[in-house]
Amino acid sequence: MLLKEKMICPNLERDKSGELCFGGVRLSPLAEKYGTPLYLYDEDRIRDRCRTYIGAVNKYFESARVLYASKAASFTRLYEIMREEGMGIDVVSIGEIYSARKAGFDLSGAYFHSNNKTDYDVEYAIDAGVGYFVVDNAEELYAIDRIASERGVSQKVLLRITPGIDPHTYAAVATGKVDSKFGSAIETGQALEITSLALSLSSVKLVGFHCHVGSQVFDADVYLKAARVMLDFVKDIFDRLDFLAEELDIGGGFGVRYVESQPEIDIDKSIMEVAAFMRAYARELGITLPTVLFEPGRSIVADAGLTLYTVGTVKRIPGYKSYVSVDGGMTDNPRYALYGSPYTILPVIESASESETVSVVGRCCESGDIIQENIPLPSSVSRGDLLACLTTGAYHYSMSSNYNKLPRPPVVMLAGGVDKLAIRRETPEDLCALEV
Ligand code: LLP
Repeated sequence: MLLKEKMICPNLERDKSGELCFGGVRLSPLAEKYGTPLYLYDEDRIRDRCRTYIGAVNKYFESARVLYASKAASFTRLYEIMREEGMGIDVVSIGEIYSARKAGFDLSGAYFHSNNKTDYDVEYAIDAGVGYFVVDNAEELYAIDRIASERGVSQKVLLRITPGIDPHTYAAVATGKVDSKFGSAIETGQALEITSLALSLSSVKLVGFHCHVGSQVFDADVYLKAARVMLDFVKDIFDRLDFLAEELDIGGGFGVRYVESQPEIDIDKSIMEVAAFMRAYARELGITLPTVLFEPGRSIVADAGLTLYTVGTVKRIPGYKSYVSVDGGMTDNPRYALYGSPYTILPVIESASESETVSVVGRCCESGDIIQENIPLPSSVSRGDLLACLTTGAYHYSMSSNYNKLPRPPVVMLAGGVDKLAIRRETPEDLCALEV
């Protein structure tokens, strides 16, 4: 049987000669110019996603903002794009703060997350002028208050609340349940406690609340449930403590398509539904709807990314499996090893040969170094062929490593058909540069 191809994203197509194009650009000249493995980003697609989000929140809410969750991909060029598109950002480390600043991002619109900010992190972020801290727990709140007071400033904070919702996704990214390392739970009374504490401290200014139920979420109901729980909490806090939240951040998490069987989420429609619900429910509760924040990461950049590999060894083990080795692996894509995430992998040059079931593996010294198991590829696939792994724009470069001392691939941006290097390929010298 011939391979039935799955073009899971609108920025992919084959040209007349059968070559795969991404963002309107043929892939083999890019492999030749930059080498493989190679991360590519379709800048036009990223901008399109930002505009969809911003357009939707402006249409359906009176007051709302979109923050790009930059842990999904956090290099300078991306922060520049976010700045140009008018997105806010969420950052989780001093490295992300530094990169955003380098890109000229106005940090007064940045939200600093993490469940364990060190004193140094807090000092760094306050000194860098980060506008908002999303505070995970009471210890952290005391540290922020102390450090802000030493500097004579008042630091705006949101409190991360655990709404107790199961987002029906994989365990590593489910964060909204009470049994979670993140946030303060409503159910245990800790959310109320930390709110009273925040209101009692003199160098923090409580602005509102935050929740994030999980990532790679497809069930729209999850957001409605989270919104209901959080609005009930806002109302409860208003009644008990006479504090009305100005901001309510309902996190990120909208799922993306790695394979054809996963649905495509209509962002505009999802935001319309969340907005309709929140507006009506706030009215029912008799409170003013706070400014609503969304924090998408994956759904902004995932399908704007693609990784190009060159095939090396092809090993067929009679009675067992066929292994197609590529020149990357778990170092540039750890997501199958970590989460068993599905991927679509396509040959760059179309082949007329029958399809065969193979596992695509990397070149690390580890059996778990697998990009995808039991997927169809043309049986003609052999050394030197190019393969494209789709939907690699989120949590790939940002989770990549130098295991086995493998240099990280470069990142190339495609915009209006033109390619531009954003991050160069690492060299062996780079890998030793920090050794003293
Ligand atoms: N806001 C908060 C507080 C988060 O923790 C996250 C993701 C997001 C927003 C963005 O979620 P997104 O829209 O990207 O789903 N490494 C995992 C994903 C970890 C997600 C962590 N938090 C993966 O590769 O699937």
